[in-house]
Amino acid sequence: MMKKVWKIAALMLSLVLILGCFAACGEKTPTNGEEGTTAGEVGTTVAAQSARLADGVLTVGTNAAFPPFEYLGDDGEPDGFDIALIEAIGEKLGVTVEVMDMEFDSLCTSVGNRIDVAIAGMTVDPEREQTVTFSDNYYKAIQNVLVAADNTEITDMASLEGKAIGVQQGTTGDMIATDEIPNAEVKRYNTFALAVEDLKNGNLDAVIIDQNPAEVFAAENEGVLTLLGAENFGFADEYYAIACPKDDSALVASVNAALAELQADGTFDQLVAEYIEK
Ligand code: ARG
Repeated sequence: MMKKVWKIAALMLSLVLILGCFAACGEKTPTNGEEGTTAGEVGTTVAAQSARLADGVLTVGTNAAFPPFEYLGDDGEPDGFDIALIEAIGEKLGVTVEVMDMEFDSLCTSVGNRIDVAIAGMTVDPEREQTVTFSDNYYKAIQNVLVAADNTEITDMASLEGKAIGVQQGTTGDMIATDEIPNAEVKRYNTFALAVEDLKNGNLDAVIIDQNPAEVFAAENEGVLTLLGAENFGFADEYYAIACPKDDSALVASVNAALAELQADGTFDQLVAEYIEK
């Protein structure tokens, strides 16, 4: 008799536990069919979901030598479109943003350990997706080619064959020069600014670099450098996104929700006008 009572009690207890678990799991069930929460559900609720935001700080890595997306301002601190964007995202999430200037090449492997996320005009790329999870895309980009103003030889992809090509180490420009141009002598620099310097010094035939920074460097070196558009080179469209930790879908969801809000409320376009189209 006594045994039976205990059995029933144990059964009821496990039932309660099972039901309780279902209820708790239910709370975390995505409502929009994707991992994470519904867009718009930002603020402390979502921010609190990622343990990485529990300290109230979003630590962000960038490589501040890629204008207009990131560069060092007059005060020596990182500034630019990406910095303004990630600060706006931090504000939506109710956390402080701390930006660390690092080498571009070490950003992906630092995401999730030294830094929470990386924003660096970084192109979504399958190789990088082995290490990070990208947020939704926020900008469409394409590669361009910078040459000396008096260079008449380089006109298309075939004419780059066997040439000395400068790139920033680990960028998509590096991948293209390395993988797609036969016999190219690829010279890799820590920043695009250094590659552009060497192009001006006559040590390179061309620099392969994203269009917006290419435009900035061309404008800074009018009459010295010429910007060749993407048309004759067959470059593919690229998309910039924020690199997030692979093991933190809550953080990805928070970043995406904040990004969607900024796009919906006009802040995003305002930043494009202020930093990119100015
Ligand atoms: N979009 C290119 C890439 O992802 C270049 C990015 C370089 N960014 C930088 N902050 N230096 O590879």
